[in-house]
Amino acid sequence: MIAVQCFGLNGDFLNETIEAGLATTEEAFMYFNGRLSAVDRARIAVWLVRENSMPQNGRRGYLFRGSFMAGARQSIHGQWSSRWVFFLAATGSAVGLGNIWRFPYVTGENGGGAFVIIYLLCVAAVGIPIMMAETLIGRRGRQSPINTMRLLAEDEGVSSKWHYLGWMGVVAGFLILSFYSVVAGWSVAYIFYVGSGVFAQTTVEASAAQFTALTDSAWELLGWHTLFMIMTVVVIARGVQGGIEQAVKWLMPALFVLLLIVVGYAIATGDFSGAISYLFKPDFSEVTANSVLAALGQAFFSLSLGMGAIMIYGSYLPADASIPRTVVAVAVCDTVVALLAGLAIFPIVFAFGLEPNGGPGLVFVTLTIAFGHMPGGQIFGALFFVLLTVAAWTSAISILEPIVAWLIESSGWSRRRASVSAGLGAWVLGIGALLSFNYWAEFTLLGKTFFDWCEFLTTSVMLPAGGLLIAIFAGWRMSRASTMEELGLSDGAIYSTWRFLVQVVAPIGVLAIFVNVLVVFLRDLGVFD
Ligand code: PHE
Repeated sequence: MIAVQCFGLNGDFLNETIEAGLATTEEAFMYFNGRLSAVDRARIAVWLVRENSMPQNGRRGYLFRGSFMAGARQSIHGQWSSRWVFFLAATGSAVGLGNIWRFPYVTGENGGGAFVIIYLLCVAAVGIPIMMAETLIGRRGRQSPINTMRLLAEDEGVSSKWHYLGWMGVVAGFLILSFYSVVAGWSVAYIFYVGSGVFAQTTVEASAAQFTALTDSAWELLGWHTLFMIMTVVVIARGVQGGIEQAVKWLMPALFVLLLIVVGYAIATGDFSGAISYLFKPDFSEVTANSVLAALGQAFFSLSLGMGAIMIYGSYLPADASIPRTVVAVAVCDTVVALLAGLAIFPIVFAFGLEPNGGPGLVFVTLTIAFGHMPGGQIFGALFFVLLTVAAWTSAISILEPIVAWLIESSGWSRRRASVSAGLGAWVLGIGALLSFNYWAEFTLLGKTFFDWCEFLTTSVMLPAGGLLIAIFAGWRMSRASTMEELGLSDGAIYSTWRFLVQVVAPIGVLAIFVNVLVVFLRDLGVFD
């Protein structure tokens, strides 16, 4: 005799076992399905068909396991109005400080063109497949990353420990936001500095001194950090459709226009051909193993992968939208914006004979020198920092949203209360990050300040680890049927390529960064040389 059992979303046993003298699994399912209401079905993570002689609680001894069409799940947090909004929101998440502040200086530190080519390869071979995986996991689970991982692990009959991946994302989110909000605060401050003409006819020393004056003042940093965090919380508190969707619908087109203006200005006034040859003429003699790995790490950070931001945005994606096409569009836009940011920054830097390898200060110290000497530099410089702020804002929203969604699901709090609480937590951590530049500057562990630790732990450890686990989960733990269904692909060349990339190429690529980070770290510690 055959029996059907079903388990709820939290792993609890829901139904009495149905034993009706049924003979086949299909019969059992039909019978069982007919007795459930839509509500019951929504609460069921998995149903199992087993022989009556099998052990009662043995989840392994089943003849058939299934879940009610994962496609029928709904997120309690809402849904984007269309696939276009998902595209805007995910692009808003991806395009941020990583593109405009980090990409140009990392490119500058790694020798230009050859680095750019390697970066493009990393985005295509590792970034895009993992982004597809993260989106499909999110849409299939339709909950916060922690609960989505728990649910899909149950669906697929694998260890529930996978939900710790969601936890790592929550921790990573808090840590990223703490330093992200401080740097975004600098950007807000610079709108006013540049706009008020502080940099007119400035010198290299004066520009550096201006930056130091800002970072030395804990109170001023606190003000800008607080302002930026409030901006972020206000949008999230208004909800998925009422807040985030409205914000990206206005801010992303604005960002696009601002970017075109700034690039146009840079081309018109700067050394455009110098920038083109710097960015696109590869000199592979400059490439080291380190720059390959720097490119891979940058791809992760820039595409917002590995911590649940893309997963939660995927959970709001309408069921009929094509994940592969949308994700490719997001990744292409993110990459184009990074390149355009390079085309906005390097022409100006070269026109003034400044060094392209200015490090993290490239945008705040180097670029502002140039703005101070150019026609209209006051206005276009201020616009540049408006652009940077908007980009950082839409990213910060996506960093906080998975945490807020989880708080709502697990505590039953209102969205407003959950947003303010999560924002407050990130704000407190951010104070540690901003004190790292003044009162706590001497307070270091292994030579890194609190700010440095937040950045290092997230970008170098947690995001790659999260991405690696996402690739393994989607490639090795989820069935072909589930991933194929969610991606909306048939069993052809595109699906096989994706599967090969997440199963083999992405994990190996990420492990390579990891080993490298570990080696560098241990060497810095003096464990070996
Ligand atoms: N992608 C963002 C940027 O480039 C940063 C980010 C990382 C956002 C991780 C969300 C999650 O600035």
